[in-house]
Amino acid sequence: MNLILLGAPGAGKGTQAEVICNALKIPTISTGNMLRAAVKDGTEYGLKAKAAMDAGDLVSDDIVIGILKDRIAQDDCKGGFILDGFPRTVPQAEALDTMGVRIDKVVEIHVADETIQRRLSGRRVCEGCGNSYHIDFKPTKVEGICDACGAKTVIRKDDEPATVIDRLKTYHEKTAPLKDYYAKQGKLVTVEGQEEVAETSKLTLKAIEG
Ligand code: AP5
Repeated sequence: MNLILLGAPGAGKGTQAEVICNALKIPTISTGNMLRAAVKDGTEYGLKAKAAMDAGDLVSDDIVIGILKDRIAQDDCKGGFILDGFPRTVPQAEALDTMGVRIDKVVEIHVADETIQRRLSGRRVCEGCGNSYHIDFKPTKVEGICDACGAKTVIRKDDEPATVIDRLKTYHEKTAPLKDYYAKQGKLVTVEGQEEVAETSKLTLKAIEG
């Protein structure tokens, strides 16, 4: 099954991608994670992407479409995949169609902007392996230390409150039109994000199975 997870920054796409990945045994492709790894490694496209990411803007379509195309051509994607954070613009969605990539379902996780601002201010990410936590909803066992690899957890640069406002604006302007795009193809299902991660996960898995 080839799935797209759609939703505003901080709606819980990454969290739900992990749940679906474990349930369906298909890989998650997160363009955000791939771009952050490129920035960390100082690659050519990482250097180009950094300024846009830090400012809460989107990275240019040509860079993102290029990395996505290479990734889905890999062997582990042959049995299906979850796209987390791609497409984010109508041209990116059109690029998938042009590549002949069949999409079975698009799951939108809907969460109000005010809730998102609260959630992202509490998110902490591991400097080492990139695991994501929340100080209230998913705390680490030892404060400030990643459960998985023992490295330090930090606030993501683009989770600063002013940048979150910019990311939400970008989402409403450039990404939200994808809801219409996929509704017209009969592929869109919307899940109302809940306060409890496990409750959202139940609804997400039901939406995929239904
Ligand atoms: P990306 O990493 O994709 O960021 P994002 O879409 O802004 O998504 P987030 O990772 O912030 O949130 P999420 O929805 O995954 O939420 P999470 O599960 O972590 O992209 C980063 C940047 O890269 C972009 O701004 C852009 O510059 C660039 N980029 C990436 N893809 C691109 C593309 N295709 N085109 C152009 N540019 C691109 O949850 C958030 C927090 O809430 C966590 O702390 C979590 O524990 C908590 N939480 C989750 N669910 C719940 C719940 N139900 N109840 C309580 N807490 C919850």
